[in-house]
Amino acid sequence: MSDERIYPVKPEIAASAHFNTEGYRQLYEQSINEPEIFWAEQAGAFLDWQHPWQEVLSYDYPKGEIAWFKGGQLNVSANCLDRHLSLRGDQIAIIWEGDDPDQQQQLTYRELYHQVCKFANVLKAQGVQKGDRVCIYLPMITEAAVVILACARIGAVHSIVFGGFSADALRDRILDADCRVLICADESYRGGKIVHSKLNADKAAAQCPNLQTLIVIEHTGHEIPWQAGRDISYRQAMQAAAAECPAEVMDAEDPLFILYTSGSTGKPKGVLHTTGGYLLYAAMTHKYVFDYQEGDIYWCTADIGWITGHSYVLYGPLCNGATSLMFEGVPTYPSPDRFWQVIDKHQVSIFYTAPTAIRALMAHGEAHVGHTSRQSLRILGSVGEPINPEAWEWYYQVVGNSRCPIVDTWWQTETGGILITPLPGATDLKPGSATLPFFGVQPALLDHDGQILEGPGEGILVLSHPWPGQARTIYGDHARFVDTYFGKYPGYYLAGDGARRDADGYYWITGRIDDVLNVSGHRLGTAEIESALVLHKDVAEAAVVGFPHPIKGQGIYAYVTLNVGVTGTDALKKELAVLVKEEISAIALPDIMQWAAGLPKTRSGKIMRRILRKIAANDFDNLGDISTLADPAVVEDLIAHRLHL
Ligand code: WTA
Repeated sequence: MSDERIYPVKPEIAASAHFNTEGYRQLYEQSINEPEIFWAEQAGAFLDWQHPWQEVLSYDYPKGEIAWFKGGQLNVSANCLDRHLSLRGDQIAIIWEGDDPDQQQQLTYRELYHQVCKFANVLKAQGVQKGDRVCIYLPMITEAAVVILACARIGAVHSIVFGGFSADALRDRILDADCRVLICADESYRGGKIVHSKLNADKAAAQCPNLQTLIVIEHTGHEIPWQAGRDISYRQAMQAAAAECPAEVMDAEDPLFILYTSGSTGKPKGVLHTTGGYLLYAAMTHKYVFDYQEGDIYWCTADIGWITGHSYVLYGPLCNGATSLMFEGVPTYPSPDRFWQVIDKHQVSIFYTAPTAIRALMAHGEAHVGHTSRQSLRILGSVGEPINPEAWEWYYQVVGNSRCPIVDTWWQTETGGILITPLPGATDLKPGSATLPFFGVQPALLDHDGQILEGPGEGILVLSHPWPGQARTIYGDHARFVDTYFGKYPGYYLAGDGARRDADGYYWITGRIDDVLNVSGHRLGTAEIESALVLHKDVAEAAVVGFPHPIKGQGIYAYVTLNVGVTGTDALKKELAVLVKEEISAIALPDIMQWAAGLPKTRSGKIMRRILRKIAANDFDNLGDISTLADPAVVEDLIAHRLHL
C-alpha cells in the first residue's frame, strides 16, 4: 500500500538531533509515568519564572477546570525578549519579507524589545490595564509582533482577528470580547493588491459602542479616512512614548490571549489560553518538533491571525531565542517560486507550511522549484489538514530533495501547540501519518459508545490527560467549553477529529467528525455560512457541506432553497456570494451553489447531511437508508440537478 511506505530516520539528522528513537521513547515514557516531575523540569528549563509555582497540575475534566503551575509568576514578553538581551541582543529576532520581493526588514532582539516597551507605554497611555482585551486586526508586518508582545508585557489579553475577515466578522469578535482598543493597519499588500484594512476597521468600529481607540499602523502610508478623537497614529504615538516599561508580573494562569475559531454550531468561539502553560508548550514543541538548533533560520508561513501564527511564528520561536521569518505575501506572487526564492534569499533551514500551499504549488509544476537551491533546508513541516501522500512525496522529493524529514503536525487552536507529530531524529516517517504523540500527550480512540479501542483501528480521537498548552475556557461561555470538549465522553478531551491507529501505533487523522469544514487549512463552521446565506430575503433555507477539492482539501458546497416564486439565477448567486464575503470572509465563499427544491430531512425535521455530502461528492451509490426521509423524492431531484452543475 502506498500509504504504508516508510522513510526511516536519517542517521545524519539523528546524529545531531535533540532526540533519537530511544531518547524519545524513554522521555515519552517518563512524561506519562511521572507527568508532574517531567513538566516541572521542562518548565524550569524553558522559562524564566519570577516566582515558583506551588502545584504543577490540577484538573477536573468534567468541570472543564485545568490549571498548570498554579502560584507561579512570569511574564511572556520578558521570556521572549528581556532575558535574551545579554546573550543575543544583536541577533535577528524577526526577518520580514514583504509582499513585494524588494521589501524587507530585520529586527534584532534589542530593537524588538525597545519597540515593545514603547508600544506597551502607548497602550498604557490609552488606559489599557492588565486583563483588558485588545483587538488586533493586522497583516503580517513586524509591528504585529510588537503590539502582540506589548499586550503580553502589560498583561492585556490580545484577540487577533485574521486580516482576511470582513468588517462584520471583526465587529462580532470585538463585541464578544468587549475590546476597548483596536489596532489595525492603514492598508496592506497581498499578492500585489491593496487590502483596505482601515476601511474594514472603521466599519466594524462604528458598530462597537465600547470601542474607544483605534490605533492605526502606517504601512502603505496612503491617505485614509481619519476620525479625530478616536484614531491614533502608531508612528506619532511611538515617537512620544517613553522607552522603559517594566513587565507586569503575571500569574501562570492569567489569560494571555483569546482566539476565535469555528465550531460545528453557532458563532465562532473565543478560545482562551493562559500564560505559563501555553508559553512552555509552544516553546518546547517548537524546539523539539522542528529540532530547532542555535543558528537556524526558521520560517512558518502561517498568518498571525491563526493559532499556528501565534505559537510558531511568534511565541515558541521568540521564547527560544530563534530567528523567525515573517512573510507578508502569498506563495504565488510575483511567481509560483516565491517560497523557494525566499528560502534561498534568507537561507531558511526550517520551513513549516500547509498542505494546501504544497498542492497549489505542485499544480504549477516542478520547474518553479528546480531552478532554486533550497540547500539551506534541513527540516520541513506540515500543518492544518491531513497531507495526502502525493503532496507529501512531492514536498519531500522535489522541495526537500529527499534530504529533509517532514514533520506532519496534528493539533488545533484549542490545543495551543502540536500534539501528534514525528520528531526529526526519532521517528520513522509514513507519508500521510502524523505518527506519534509528543511528550506528555496521551491520545486514545473511542467507538461511538465511548468505549476505548485498543490496538489498531479507527475511531474518535480524544486525549485522556491534560497538557500545559491546552485551552482553559471559551471566553464568556465556560458552559460551552465544558459541553463541546468534555461533555460527550466524560473524562476525555474531545478533539472533533477521527483517526486511525496502525499496527505501529501511528496515528492517521481522517478529518473532522463534526460539521466543521477545513478549507485550505482554514476552519469554518457550516452553520456560520448557512446563517450568512439565509440572511438574503429570497432564501428560505440553506445547507452547507464539504466536498473533496484537489487544492483546498475541502471545498464548500451550498444547497440553497429559495422562497416560493423566486427563480434561482446567476445574479442571485452573486448576491449570495457578496453576503458571505461581507458576513464572514472571502475564504468562506461556496465553490458550488445548488438551488434545491427541498432538502432531505428526517420526519422530525433534521437535515440529513450525510446524504448531502454524498451528492456534493458526486457519489450517488450507497446513499444509505433514505426510507426514513420525510420526502425521499427530494434526493432524486437533488441528484438530477447535481449532474447539471
Ligand atoms: C485539522 C490548526 C490532519 C484537524 C493548527 C484539526 C490536521 C483542525 C492537521 C484544527 C494535521 C490540523 N493532520 N489534520 N497535521 N493539523 N488539522 O484549530 O481537523 O485551525 O481539528 O488549528 O485542523 O484547526 P485549527
